[in-house]
Parts: sequence; C-alpha cells; structure tokens
Amino acid sequence: MMDPIVWEWIGAALRWLHVIAGIAWIGSSFYFVHLDSSLKPRDGLPKGAYGEAWQVHGGGFYHMVKFLVAPSNMPDDLTWFKWEAYATWLSGVALLVFVYYFGAQLYLIDLSVMELSNWEAIAISAGSLILGWAIYDGLCRSPLGRSDNLLALFGFGFVVVATFVFTQIFSARGAFMQAGALMGTIMAGNVFMVIIPNQRKVVAALMKGEAPDPRFGRTGKQRSMHNNYITLPTVFVMISNHYPLAYGGSLAWLILAFLIVMGVFIRHFFNTMHKGLPAPWWTWWVAAVCALIIVALSRVTPADPAVSGNLLPSPAVAEASVDLAAASDIVMGRCAMCHTREPVWEGVTVPPKGIVLDTPAAVAAHAEQIYTIAVWTHAMPPSNVTEMPVEERRVLARWYEDMRTATR
Ligand code: HEC
Repeated sequence: MMDPIVWEWIGAALRWLHVIAGIAWIGSSFYFVHLDSSLKPRDGLPKGAYGEAWQVHGGGFYHMVKFLVAPSNMPDDLTWFKWEAYATWLSGVALLVFVYYFGAQLYLIDLSVMELSNWEAIAISAGSLILGWAIYDGLCRSPLGRSDNLLALFGFGFVVVATFVFTQIFSARGAFMQAGALMGTIMAGNVFMVIIPNQRKVVAALMKGEAPDPRFGRTGKQRSMHNNYITLPTVFVMISNHYPLAYGGSLAWLILAFLIVMGVFIRHFFNTMHKGLPAPWWTWWVAAVCALIIVALSRVTPADPAVSGNLLPSPAVAEASVDLAAASDIVMGRCAMCHTREPVWEGVTVPPKGIVLDTPAAVAAHAEQIYTIAVWTHAMPPSNVTEMPVEERRVLARWYEDMRTATR
C-alpha cells in the first residue's frame, strides 16, 4: 500500500482540483445563461446577429453580440467551453474512486443495508452511473422531450427514484453521494454527448454555407437548461458529507427531492431577473417552505426498528441520567481508535478531519457534533465498523439531553 501521508495529500489535491474545475464550469455556465437572457435586439446590428449586451468588468467595456447564424466571416479561433465540464467530471470520478471505492468499507457499504463485497458495491455504483445516463438520455430523446415541462417532471422523478434505490443498496452517505454523482454525470454527459456535438454540427453546416438544422440548437439549449437548473442541488450534495442530517436519516431521498425543487426555484428567480423581467419574489417563498420541510424531514427517526427510538425527547432515551465520565467511556470505546492523535485503526493515520475525541474534555467540547453524527444520525462510526449498539447511542442521547437541561 501507498504511504498513508501521501495518500491523504492526494485526496486533498483531488478535492482542490475538483472544486476549482467545478467553479470554472459553473461560473462560465451561469455567465452564459445570464448573457443569453440579457441580450437585447437592436436595429443596425451586423447581419445574422440576434441581439447585443454591454458589460463592464475588470477595467474594460465589452460589447457582446450573439449570432444565431454564421457571421459573414467565420472567425479562425473560436473558444469552446467544454474543458471546464470535462475536468469537473473527470476529477469527480477520480475522487469517487479515491474516497468511495478505495474506502468502500467505510463510505460506500453498510452491511446492515446490504451485504456487498467491495467489488459488488463498486460495480453497482459505476454501472448505475452509466445506466442512469442512458435512462435520462432516453427520456430526453423520447416524445416527452418535446415538452420541456413534462420532461423536467419525469427527469426529476427519475433522479428521486434512483436516489431511493441507492439508499436501499449503499450506506446513507454513499447513497447520497451516488445520487450527486448521477446528477453530475448527467450534467457532464449533456455537455459531452449532446451540447458540444450539436454545436460542432451547427458550425460545420455554417462553414459550408448551409442552414443548420434548428433541432440541434433546440436540444442543446434544453440540455443546457437542465444543467442550469440542477446545478444548485448537485453542489449541495457534493458538500453534504459534512452534514449528516442531510444524508443520514431514513428520508434522505425525500430531502434530496426537496433540495432539487428548492434549487430549481432559486435558479428560476435569477434566470427571470437576468431577462430583465419583474423579479419573481414568490420563488423565495417556495424555497423557504422547502427549507422548512427539509428540516422537518431530517427530524424523522430512522426507519429500521432496531435503530428507531433515537428521537429526542423520547422514552427510548436511556432512563438513568448519564454523566460525562460514562459518555466518554462510550466515545473512547467506539470512536477514539480513529479520533486520536495516533490512531490505531488500520488505514487511519491522522485524526480524521482533525477531530480528537480521546479525553473527557474533548468529548464535552464536541458534544453537539457527537450528538448529530452518532446519535441523531448514525453517520459515525462510519458504516458502524466499531459496532456501536443502539443502546449506547441512547445513553449518549440522555447525556446530551441532561447537559442541555442543566445549561438551560
Ligand atoms: C474507523 C474509524 C472511525 C471511527 C471508529 C469513528 N470515526 Fe469519525 N470519522 C472517521 C473518518 C475517516 C472521518 C472523515 C470523514 C470524511 O472524510 O468526510 C470522520 C469524521 C468525523 C467527524 C467530522 C465530520 C465532518 O465532516 O465534519 C466527526 C464529528 C466524527 N467523525 C465523530 C465520530 C464519533 C462521535 C465517533 C464514534 C461514535 C466516530 N467518529 C467514530 C473515522 C472514524
């Protein structure tokens, strides 16, 4: 095996690359949707031009003109926007392999959900990305594709159902990330398989002096709008691994559904504003209602009967009051093998995320985090590798509850 310190740094480097590529992709994609919406037709534009926009940035003025048909002389150097998308997807896949495939036991598989070997889990994960793209692409090419709204509805339903299926196969965290990877793959697939190829066909036709088939432009635009609308939820899923309340509950798939709705309405607000139309402030009400529903859904107890009863305040919380010493004993026994300065768990070489839980004082200081990550949700220990029983989580629940009432 590779040196664990080098391994850690490779993970950090991949994440850095993925975030930077994603920023470049989303940045250019938001920019062009904004530019497209803000173009205004005017008399006297060059032949074939549809509209223009004036912009100021970085000490200069830009005069943007959009041509729907070939400009009278085709420029020699045309900038294509595609590597932002490809780099984001490629670095994302590398990160998926690095974190979730190499760390399948910790992050992808939960034996209490499904007994999978590493290779089975990896095959299902990779296969479902390919299959997922094929199904989505099939929906778009089917007669449904003629109606933007109907297609959006079915695409949404498909992603939610797929997420539900993932939660029946993978660990909670693995399932959520798999859903994010599916949405990211759909977005990158749209660029690689549809938007750029269509654009090439249009350019080729224009070069030959022919009128390009308007279908190419239309489908490209449709896919591009899908990407625009699923950007916000996809990015949320990508950062959600720090928020077990988002992925750790039994209704995570429904939380994702409301996240998508929320993201779509927020995008709609900006897209409408950028067209210069009256701002649809009502969309923020929809977003706020979605946010409230998401918070409520994250309060629902896990469905597994062996696990339920963790909700507070609940009679299932341990009866006898619990002091810090007793709580620390549990944390020492189930968490400190990894969360200590010199971890003894194989493959863990530094305290994960810098969190050290090896003294009562440290346990007290991290009470909130321990509560959300190991009591309310079961995100830690990862895939319950140290076999923490539900009773111990209840004891921690009682400790936390006692502490809160004491400080109230
Ligand atoms: C097998 C080793 C292992 C055990 C046991 C373990 N953890 Fe972790 N923990 C990890 C790893 C690895 C991460 C980093 C996850 C990541 O990369 O996002 C982590 C992350 C965390 C985080 C930070 C989450 C974040 O992203 O902000 C908290 C809090 C935490 N663990 C608490 C606990 C508690 C409480 C227990 C015991 C109930 C526990 N852990 C048991 C390995 C472990």
